[in-house]
Amino acid sequence: MPNLIIDGQKISVPDGTTVIQAAELLGIFIPRYCYHPGLSIAGNCRICLVEVEKNFKLQIACNTPAVEGMVIHTKSPKVANGRRAALEFLLANHPLDCPVCDQSGECDLQNFYMQYGLYDPRFEETKVKKRKAVILGPHVILDQERCILCSRCVRFTDEITKTGEFGIFKRGDRAEVNLYPGKVLDNPYSANVVDICPVGALTERNFRFKARVWYLSSAPSVCNGCSQGCNINLHFVLDRPHLNNGARVLRVKPRYNPNVNDWWICDYGRYGLGPIDQKRLIGVRNRGQESSWDQAFRAIAPILTKASQGRDDSSIGVIFSAQLTTEELFLLRKIFVGALKARVSAPVPSIGPADDFLIKADKNPNTLGADLLGLTDGPAAQEIIDEALGGKLNALWVFGVDLAALCPIEKIRELSQKLELFVFQGPNENQTAALAQWVLPCAAYVEKDGTFINCHGRAQRIGKAFSPPGDSREDSRILLEIERVLGRPRTESSSHPFSQSFKDAGPLEAGRFPQEIFLELARTTKPLQGLTYETIGSQGADIAIKKSKNLAAP
Ligand code: SF4
Ligand code: SF4
Ligand code: FES
Repeated sequence: MPNLIIDGQKISVPDGTTVIQAAELLGIFIPRYCYHPGLSIAGNCRICLVEVEKNFKLQIACNTPAVEGMVIHTKSPKVANGRRAALEFLLANHPLDCPVCDQSGECDLQNFYMQYGLYDPRFEETKVKKRKAVILGPHVILDQERCILCSRCVRFTDEITKTGEFGIFKRGDRAEVNLYPGKVLDNPYSANVVDICPVGALTERNFRFKARVWYLSSAPSVCNGCSQGCNINLHFVLDRPHLNNGARVLRVKPRYNPNVNDWWICDYGRYGLGPIDQKRLIGVRNRGQESSWDQAFRAIAPILTKASQGRDDSSIGVIFSAQLTTEELFLLRKIFVGALKARVSAPVPSIGPADDFLIKADKNPNTLGADLLGLTDGPAAQEIIDEALGGKLNALWVFGVDLAALCPIEKIRELSQKLELFVFQGPNENQTAALAQWVLPCAAYVEKDGTFINCHGRAQRIGKAFSPPGDSREDSRILLEIERVLGRPRTESSSHPFSQSFKDAGPLEAGRFPQEIFLELARTTKPLQGLTYETIGSQGADIAIKKSKNLAAP
């Protein structure tokens, strides 16, 4: 445990700690380009220079081990001069692209120039020209002139994905980053190189020229692309006129969580946001005609009431997937299993490719949440469809699942003709929505609060970034309305102000509601006991959960 002093503050650090890490422990930020905590140390950019007493020359903080008795200055005039010189060198051949560069506003060349540069350039020669707008793969585009040769991208593909696409070629001021001949940057984690590139050399093709970053709003959430539940930040603008003034998500960035995904996410999760913007359901429909929530609940109420009274001529089937939050699954169980004695299927699985890093075969984010609530023991969805077609059910409620993946379209049409009630509740248009008797439009997962439990048993909060478009509502709000229709208390702890008039609650009030559902869930479900939204926080909380044998997917 060497003891050292940084900027007058004493600290003891474990053996092997570098000066940049020791400074960080004290809350002192040292500029860096090549250093990245998730990668090996390269020590090539020299922007992290610090002054170590009794050392004649400035030292790089990222590759200098902290040793006993060191006295370090990170803000002295000598340090500022050193960093200014490093910047002048890095910017010598750098083009003046800032007005058109996507990195502008979050570029560390800009940031550190403002902090340490502000010099009059002495470079009078012609800048070296290199290739611009080189397409490297499906998601990433390269501008060689902007590259400062920090080698983060090279180390990422060597050490993290182990796919080795990048190299640095040529020498001196002709040196350039590029792919090895014949290589394409199409590994499943390719766009992470954009996040770690400290300048605008690697940018996202998808985000290119879409928005200046200072116009973006940001909200933390969890990816719903598979059961790993990687932590993400959604970057969006509030301008989606075709969806009633909703928001448009322009990009997704990984959010650091050492317990789940470190600094990384996969490309599938990053670019899997189409359903938020495309083919959204924004109004209630009855057999293809525009309708309203009031009309829907008036029509649905007698059938649900019949079922809740245990009448022989009433039996309901439910098909859902583990895309629903734990709070919604809890309400689904309470209402459809508890009150309505419905035949509830096991969650419809969604299986895809997997690897030994982050990507999981189970493409639903909350299979373990469904398992925790005992909802993975039900019959397969196929069985429910067969029962409905065979006349054993008189109502079918489908949560978000497109039955076209489970049976031919003719069968869905037959369900619609045969059943007394056939409801599709979901965020997106699909073949089931087109044929269902009632369509109830729902919030997408970025438009509501709640929790997912990932495949390792970590409860994590998703966050409401913005309100759902048009007339659509959060699933939990619809389920609570069904409770009201059935004349039951909304939640066991219904002392909140919305218990009387949830129907009329605005989006802000409705957004607070999942917290109260979670409290009830946590009180009644052992592995979650004691947890609240506050204790789960932004990084999640591990819960002791054993996976049942009946999990729909690995
Ligand atoms: Fe570094 Fe970006 Fe150049 Fe790669 S492209 S070496 S990450 S500056
Ligand atoms: Fe999303 Fe899964 Fe990819 Fe993580 S690994 S970003 S959870 S799809
Ligand atoms: Fe230390 Fe680059 S961050 S040399």
